[in-house]
Amino acid sequence: MKEILEQLEARRSEARSGGGQRRIDAQHAKGKLTARERIEALLDDGSFEEYDMFVTHRCVDFEMEKTKIPGDGVVTGWGTINGRQVYVFSQDFTVLGGSVSETHAAKICKIMDMAMRVGAPVIGLNDSGGARIQEGVGSLAGYGDVFNQNVKASGVVPQISLIMGPCAGGAVYSPAMTDFIFMVRDSSYMFVTGPDVVKTVTNEVVTAEELGGAKTHTSKSSVADGAFENDMEALAQTRRLFDFLPLSAREEPPVMPVFDDPERLEPSLDTVIPDNPNKPYDMHEVIQKTADEGEFFEIQADFAKNILTGFIRLEGRPVGVVANQPMVLAGCDDIDASRNAARFVRFCDCFNIPIVTFVDVPGFMPGTKQEYGGLIKHGAKLQFAYAEATVPKVTVITRKAYGGAYDVMSSKHLRGDVNYAWPTAEIAVMGAKGATEILYRSELDDVEKIAARTKEYEERFANPFVAAERGFIDEVIMPRSTRRRVCRAFASLRNKKVEQPYKKHDNIPL
Ligand code: HXC
Repeated sequence: MKEILEQLEARRSEARSGGGQRRIDAQHAKGKLTARERIEALLDDGSFEEYDMFVTHRCVDFEMEKTKIPGDGVVTGWGTINGRQVYVFSQDFTVLGGSVSETHAAKICKIMDMAMRVGAPVIGLNDSGGARIQEGVGSLAGYGDVFNQNVKASGVVPQISLIMGPCAGGAVYSPAMTDFIFMVRDSSYMFVTGPDVVKTVTNEVVTAEELGGAKTHTSKSSVADGAFENDMEALAQTRRLFDFLPLSAREEPPVMPVFDDPERLEPSLDTVIPDNPNKPYDMHEVIQKTADEGEFFEIQADFAKNILTGFIRLEGRPVGVVANQPMVLAGCDDIDASRNAARFVRFCDCFNIPIVTFVDVPGFMPGTKQEYGGLIKHGAKLQFAYAEATVPKVTVITRKAYGGAYDVMSSKHLRGDVNYAWPTAEIAVMGAKGATEILYRSELDDVEKIAARTKEYEERFANPFVAAERGFIDEVIMPRSTRRRVCRAFASLRNKKVEQPYKKHDNIPL
């Protein structure tokens, strides 16, 4: 018996050593953790239950029968993050470069099946040279199976991808179909075709980092939702994000203990709006002063900075935030902002996370670049996402809410549940200057007359009361009481239920 137990330990130890000490050292030399070290850092101590440790590939081409490493380049199983269940796969670059074989893919599919069955999120730690070259189409089939699982799981359980090494070719499409992608700076990259192919086809000379590094994907392409300095930071921040999410679409997001009074007043918000309507202010301040303990977990912080998206808690309950940022492009909505916010709104709606929207938007961005880029379709995405979302929606207009952008930003007309405005709100078709220049074009040469007309327009429309008189704004609130009012609004909406007409699924303008 003892011998049998020892054999098991020996086999386990062989599996745990992956591609061997030399390759583990090489991994460390690149500043990267190994697949197992990453799992340890991600999950609660001692919570990891591994499956399929002894799985090996079945390839016999290219003498592959001589290179069988138990586990086949991916560590899979489940564990907990702050006591809540999560399924994990972690690709082991020390085993054939973490390349994906048929069996490697099957291991990933297996835990995704389990995750969907029990209702627990999936976190994928990606570090792979892509399709296992020796396996050919078997590997491609494996990838296809993983993609299919990603789609099946979408909207059922949250899926998070961390890119912690190479992720190239068709391999990028699995993370791309998950809910969030985080990258590690300087040690990860993602691209469909690498620098050599790019040079051959387009004659562009570009490094892997420039083409698909963390900076590129968080600031230019928006493929990634966040970037972190190293593996440890990426894993710690993933734990932080996880705490905002429900385990599945059937559940409510987790309620955390809270030490911040929901009745807390913030007198400083009374003076946050500058006297000059063209002066910016930082919407982060409004969000942080509303949130429990000032905590704001920002998503896509480096992309489309004219709109802010992320998570806060109110009375310990996760809430998604969408907010115009007057500091960037005066807070105008544009293609990038609309796409970014629409995806975020849809994520929140999938997973029962209520949404608070802070509005200060002078309209949609004008220009050929925007129109040729399809602003109409992209702007419609945000409108569509808000209108279809059935989670509780609370809106606070702090200053400008002009034109179509007023409608889009979770207005009453798109089924906003509770719509507040600060007394500084200006709800109108457009700004006073633009409006008078159109209405009184013949008087443009008369500076005094135009100034008087502008003032008249401002007095009539640059306030929240016209909308409040019609019930489009439920209440004009003191800025200092924003936290209390928004908390109470969400409390009142906890039992919200919406009946939807039958449909297979909608057809959001992609
Ligand atoms: C089999 C692979 C492999 C692969 C790497 N290895 N990629 N084995 N299939 N795809 C092995 C190497 O042979 C090596 O084995 C070990 O992993 C580490 O690789 P190195 O090249 O030494 O590491 P490094 O210098 O860090 O370079 C990493 C790399 C490079 C940039 C990822 O290995 C590389 O370019 N690999 C090929 C990438 C690729 O073309 N993949 C197919 C993409 S197409 P030893 O034994 O020496 O340790 C694709 C399609 C998916 O993925 C389609 C889905 C629909």
